[in-house]
Amino acid sequence: MIGSLNHVAIAVPDLESACRLYRDILGAVVSAPVAMPAHGVTTVFVDLPNTKIELLQALGEDSPIAGFLARRPEGGIHHVCYEVDDIIAARDRLLAAGTRVLGDGEPRLGAHGKPVLFLHPKDFCGTLIELEQA
Ligand code: CO
Repeated sequence: MIGSLNHVAIAVPDLESACRLYRDILGAVVSAPVAMPAHGVTTVFVDLPNTKIELLQALGEDSPIAGFLARRPEGGIHHVCYEVDDIIAARDRLLAAGTRVLGDGEPRLGAHGKPVLFLHPKDFCGTLIELEQA
């Protein structure tokens, strides 16, 4: 069902300095920051030849990554994103298998303007999974 790895997301306390690290020290191509109030994050994408890294900084009062960063002040891997062809079919298959889809189960538009869903980390080896319809 899942296809390519679309990105690995890293939550960071300071997006500016994370961008500098990836651009100036690691020599990668880094996008401009995009504020996503509906998701409570500001995102930057680092383009790699075979995938992307999504750098996430908390945005707003009740950002979903605030608790994560409180436990890991230096930042850390927050989620991995796999592509699927049909996100509704994927969701229905996961629910039928007894795994949990976060939120109300309806896809929302993610950082690429494509529908995304998040899966409960306790059902997937302790890793938060994002599914994106490719
Ligand atoms: Co993501």
